[in-house]
Amino acid sequence: MFSLRWKLVSTYLLLIVMVLVLVSTFFIRTYKDNAINERKTSSMAEANIISAQLRPNIMGISREYTRNYINRIIRQKSIDIDSRIIVTNKNGDVLVDSYDSMLEENLIEQVEVSRAVQGYSSYGEYYLDDYGRVMYVAVPIRYNGDVIGSILISNSLNSVYDDIQDIKGKIFGLAMTSLFVTTVISFIFADILSKPLLKLNSSIEEYTLGNKDVEIDVSGNDEISNLGYSINDMIRKLSQIDKRRRKFVSNVSHELKTPVTSVKILAETLIHTNEYNKELYDDFLGDINSELDRLSHIIDDLLYLVEIEKDDLEMSYKMTYINYLIENTIGMLSRIAEKKNIDIKFNPKDNVQIMVDQDKLKQCMINIINNAVKYTPDGGHIEVDIEMGKDFLEISVSDTGIGIPKKNLEFIFDRFYRVDKARSRETGGTGLGLSIVKQIVDLHNGKINIESEVDVGTKFSIFLPLRSTL
Ligand SMILES: Nc1ncnc2c1ncn2[C@@H]1O[C@H](COP(=O)(O)OP(=O)(O)O)[C@@H](O)[C@H]1O
Ligand SMILES: [Mg+2]
Repeated sequence: MFSLRWKLVSTYLLLIVMVLVLVSTFFIRTYKDNAINERKTSSMAEANIISAQLRPNIMGISREYTRNYINRIIRQKSIDIDSRIIVTNKNGDVLVDSYDSMLEENLIEQVEVSRAVQGYSSYGEYYLDDYGRVMYVAVPIRYNGDVIGSILISNSLNSVYDDIQDIKGKIFGLAMTSLFVTTVISFIFADILSKPLLKLNSSIEEYTLGNKDVEIDVSGNDEISNLGYSINDMIRKLSQIDKRRRKFVSNVSHELKTPVTSVKILAETLIHTNEYNKELYDDFLGDINSELDRLSHIIDDLLYLVEIEKDDLEMSYKMTYINYLIENTIGMLSRIAEKKNIDIKFNPKDNVQIMVDQDKLKQCMINIINNAVKYTPDGGHIEVDIEMGKDFLEISVSDTGIGIPKKNLEFIFDRFYRVDKARSRETGGTGLGLSIVKQIVDLHNGKINIESEVDVGTKFSIFLPLRSTL
């Protein structure tokens, strides 16, 4: 496996090598072109100077005196500019050669010379086995507009190529050093980068292995630290969900266990009763029946809660007369209210029509008003009000009941939570009613407010958005 470190290091090295090759190629090419051009220009200038100097004398070369004069000039110049200088007549026959007089009086067939005697300056670069790199420059010698000969200067380029070789060596040294430095730096850098990633990874592995309380220790705010913070958040959330799930399962089991145990005891008692006693049997069977009712009530509520907590739940919003919906709900609960001699008053100020999921809102109102009836002593009063606000419709249910102590308020929406378990059991409560209310109001993007005073009463208000964000 290629670790991050190796990937980083090799990427850096590749980049450095590429840059070095490009830069040094460009540099060497430029250096070489400049150096050779400079040589060419200066040789050309020298050749022109010599050509001008010889112009008046070249015709008289057959004379001993003139010949010696020309020879002297050429040989001195040759030493001065460290080049071989050849002078030809207009046919290309060598008149003077600064290096080797053997060539004199012979035809020279160098292409630069043929161009020069035709009247053009010319230049050429060659590789000779004996001398290495050389450069030829030739210019015509003119007299009264006619070409009467040519000057050829040949010049070794070996020093230029030696210099280039030298530069290449230095660049190579530099390249090696910078590669080494880059390697070291990128190793350190890669280490700095990969350490926190390794830490993240080992924390996640630890979490996967079952330690639900891992907390990655992160600091700073670069991308990797942010990843760390996000993972910590995620772990916290997952742990929360996990805890809630465990609590829920344990609550459900407990809630279901209670009625089942009661039924079991009642049934066993009946089995072990020796004589048949109709009254006892009826009594016990009645108890068994109501325990089973409780059980099925809990299961119904649970199933309903699961249903409305589904992620892909579809709400069916309809324009609804809220007055009618509330009257209807109160009607459904009037019998149990009458039994306790509690009157339920509905005081609508407006005739309100808004978009809601009718069935769900009705279930919500049943749960709230049912609670009001359940937790209000005989002879109490309940009032239901609706009031249009600017953005919300407020529906409130006030009772003259037992109230809810301040310290219990924050828990009453928790599943299975009751302030007084025994009392709630007596009245057939499951502790799920308000969880359902909360979920339904949330689904409508609404809000809930409770005001309560012990032994005075409770006001339960829900706020539904008028232009609901559907
Ligand atoms: N109107 C109210 N007056 C007093 N207490 C209330 C009222 N409504 C709810 N409660 C308290 O909140 C608890 C949770 O309510 P809920 O979820 O509906 O469960 P339950 O099945 O017990 O009615 C109740 O057990 C009760 O203690
Ligand atoms: Mg209830």
